[in-house]
Amino acid sequence: MLIAVGSVKAAPGVTTVTTALAALWPEAQHTRRLVAELDPSGGDLAVRYGLPATPGLASFAASTRRTREPAAVWDHTHLVSGGSHALPAPPAAAQAHAALTILASGPGRSLLRGAAANPGVVLLADCGRLDPATPAEAIARQADVLLLVSGTRPDELAHTATRLGELAAWTPRPCLLLTGTGHSTRDVERALGIPTIGRLPHDPTGAAALTRITSPAQRRRGLARRIAALARALAAPSATPRPTPAGGPPAAVPGVPPQQVRTAGASLPGPPSPSAPASPPSAGEPARRDDQHSTSARKEPLS
Ligand SMILES: Nc1ncnc2c1ncn2[C@@H]1O[C@H](COP(=O)(O)OP(=O)(O)OP(=O)(O)O)[C@@H](O)[C@H]1O
Ligand SMILES: [Mg+2]
Repeated sequence: MLIAVGSVKAAPGVTTVTTALAALWPEAQHTRRLVAELDPSGGDLAVRYGLPATPGLASFAASTRRTREPAAVWDHTHLVSGGSHALPAPPAAAQAHAALTILASGPGRSLLRGAAANPGVVLLADCGRLDPATPAEAIARQADVLLLVSGTRPDELAHTATRLGELAAWTPRPCLLLTGTGHSTRDVERALGIPTIGRLPHDPTGAAALTRITSPAQRRRGLARRIAALARALAAPSATPRPTPAGGPPAAVPGVPPQQVRTAGASLPGPPSPSAPASPPSAGEPARRDDQHSTSARKEPLS
C-alpha cells in the first residue's frame, strides 16, 4: 500500500503524522513500514531521528540508474524507533529537490510503487507541500491514498480550498485530515462540502513525543492514540463516503473563497462508514465536538 501525505501550505504536521502513522500502523509486527521522505524543500527525518542523510533518498535515487529492483529501496533505509524504516531526504533543499527529480522523472519512478505493492508493506511518502510542479507529484499520483493535511485557520483553509479539486483527482482515495485550532470540523466540512477523515488537536508536547514511541502504553495516549485510529481507518478498505453534514446552508468560514464552498472537494470520499461491517468507525466523527478554538488535547480517541 502506498500512501502519499502532503499539505498545501503552513506546516500543518505532515512529517509528524507520516512518521507516527508508520510507527502506529495496525498489525505492525506483520507489516514492513517505510517512510520515504520525498519533500523537495529538504528533509527533517535525519535531524529528528539523529540519522545520517546517507544512505537515503539521494543514494537510492542515484542507484535507480543501475537497478530496476523495487526491493533495493530497503538498502537505503534506517530502522527507527517504533520499528519502521526511514528513507531520509538530504536536509538541503537543492540536494533533496535534485534527488527527488532523478527518482520521479527517471527510470526508477515506479520503484517505490513496486516496493509498496508487496502485500506486507505499507509505504508512506512524505511529499511535503504539494506545490504546482512539485517533483513529488509523479510519485504521489501512483499512490493508493492521498492524505492531505490542513490546518483550520482561515488562511490555511483558503490555501487548501484552492487545491482540493485538483489534488482529489490524483489518487483513487483522497482524504482530508485537519489539524490544530481554528474553525470547527463541522463548519469546515460544511464550507468545503466534503467530509474529513479526522482531526488532530494542537498538542506540541504530544507531537514531539511521537518520534520516541516505544511502549504500548505510549500508543494508547493522547495524540498517539488518535493517530493509531487514523492508521486503522487508512488500513481499512475505503467504503461508501458518509454524507457531508447537512442542516441548512453551509456555514461561512472566513478565508474559504465563496466559489469553493460546497464544490471544491465534492469528489473527495470520506472515511469508512461507521455502519460498514468490515470497516472501523470513522476516524473523524468524534473530532467535531471540541475542536473549535481548543488548545487542549481531547480525551476521546479518533474512533
Ligand atoms: N498536532 C500537533 N500539535 C502541535 N504541534 C504539532 C502537531 N503536529 C506537529 N507539530 C509540530 O509542528 C512543527 C511542524 O510539524 P511538521 O514538521 O510535522 O510539519 P510539516 O507539515 O511536515 O512542515 P513542513 O511543510 O515544513 O515540512 C513541529 O515542530 C511539530 O512537532
Ligand atoms: Mg515536513
